[in-house]
Amino acid sequence: MTRHQQPPLDQSAAPYAEALIAHRDRDGLRFMIPGHATGQAGGSDRLRDFLGARALELDIPQLVEGIDLGAGNAFDHARELAAAAWDARTTWFLTNGASQGNRMAMQALAAIGDRVLVQRSCHSSVYDGLVMSGATPEYLFPESDPDHKIAHGITAEAAEQALAEAAAAGTPYAALVMVSPSYFGVVADVPAVAAACRRYGAALVVDGSWGAHFGFHAELPESPTRQGADIVLSSIHKLGGSLTQTAFLHLCETPHASVLEPALEAAYRLTESTSLNSLLLASLDIARSELATGQAAMGEALEAAALLRRLVTDASGLRLAEPDFLARPGAVAIDPLHVSIDVRGRGITGPALKTALSRAEEPAFVEIAAPTAIVALIGPRGTPDVAGLLAAIDRAAPPQAAGSGPAPAASAPLPAAPPPGAQLLTPREAYLAPSESVSASEAVGRISAAMLAAYPPGIPNAVPGELLTAELLAYLRDTAKLPGSYIRGAADHAVTQLRVVRR
Ligand SMILES: Cc1ncc(COP(=O)(O)O)c(C=O)c1O
Repeated sequence: MTRHQQPPLDQSAAPYAEALIAHRDRDGLRFMIPGHATGQAGGSDRLRDFLGARALELDIPQLVEGIDLGAGNAFDHARELAAAAWDARTTWFLTNGASQGNRMAMQALAAIGDRVLVQRSCHSSVYDGLVMSGATPEYLFPESDPDHKIAHGITAEAAEQALAEAAAAGTPYAALVMVSPSYFGVVADVPAVAAACRRYGAALVVDGSWGAHFGFHAELPESPTRQGADIVLSSIHKLGGSLTQTAFLHLCETPHASVLEPALEAAYRLTESTSLNSLLLASLDIARSELATGQAAMGEALEAAALLRRLVTDASGLRLAEPDFLARPGAVAIDPLHVSIDVRGRGITGPALKTALSRAEEPAFVEIAAPTAIVALIGPRGTPDVAGLLAAIDRAAPPQAAGSGPAPAASAPLPAAPPPGAQLLTPREAYLAPSESVSASEAVGRISAAMLAAYPPGIPNAVPGELLTAELLAYLRDTAKLPGSYIRGAADHAVTQLRVVRR
């Protein structure tokens, strides 16, 4: 639904959620799905005990007049409000996460062209989307942080150079796909990348999954939807306040929009269920309303994050990792709701502390761990007990006696990853090809059927369709031996067997 179609844009309304409540209140006889017999005599007591009667009553199927059927229905109105809140041309409600949105976006880019420039550290769903679309990707490597051993974003300079070289060679890219902010909250220079894309005619997809809240408070970074991107993913369940598995895909008003819009609609039908869950959709509608009108609540969340930062700064053996992140090329800001705490001074690694916190008698759960740090997330309407988190850290990893030094695993240098092997098949061709499992020595010179990424830092070293070189396999096997390291996508921890395309 485009934002220009209907006049009333009161962001305090949640029309879809309100229509569900009105429908429930009509209390009619129900001879339709869902089969858990919501609100009727009988039905499942067990499910009712688990979820609560109200959740069951509001689990209302698709195609109900006034809710999502008929002219001017509530769902269309909710879509219009969501598009308006992000200044988008069109917004899709997704119930299969930003993963679905990435798959949709990759599929839709085929309407512009076949060659796409992809940030190598994109989420796996981008690669899934490339399998679906059949596109030929080329890669932009993100900035790697040798100290914290994590990947950040791409730089605008690298994007400009790659776009210019492809254009000069007569093989311009149809699109560039990037991530901002990163999992660690590092924000890339989206306006500069968007300007470069515009100069070379490429569409820009920004996976803004971790910045669903951006643009909704003066202290937050701006949303990529207002920075020149063509398509933006917002994983609203992350830091936007909706139920798990929900996200928005926004199409912005750019020169590519009229081509991308029908392609995205087709991709939506390809990836979505015909039985969308009303509770998930309503949670998106309510989260959008609260983000758009909830400056005061967001202000409190920002204050909680600021207090946590102050406590960390004052604590012995802890420090904020964020100044280090910001010093890396391409980093222009840090999401205030991601608080990255460098724990090396407590003589423990990030993963070990994260595990210890979760297993403690009074547990605390943090989102991520890097070898050097843990990352605490504050929700957009959250005022969590940040002093309690500091106390939990003190219990799990007390301040050390002066001079006892950082944990050896945290300070071990990260070996440099060799360049990936040549791309001999597209991800789709590799996906469709018959594959087999071979030993590591037999895998040299073969085409990988799997995505392999050494953690840390988690940048894919081999993508399906790429040649496995001796150098790459040695690196993967050596990295797997390091404490705390593993190879995502490998059949076994020691990387003795690899899945390759059959000859
Ligand atoms: C950068 C990025 N994009 C997309 C996704 C997928 O999002 P969802 O879990 O909403 O499917 C993730 C998941 O963590 C992610 O980190």
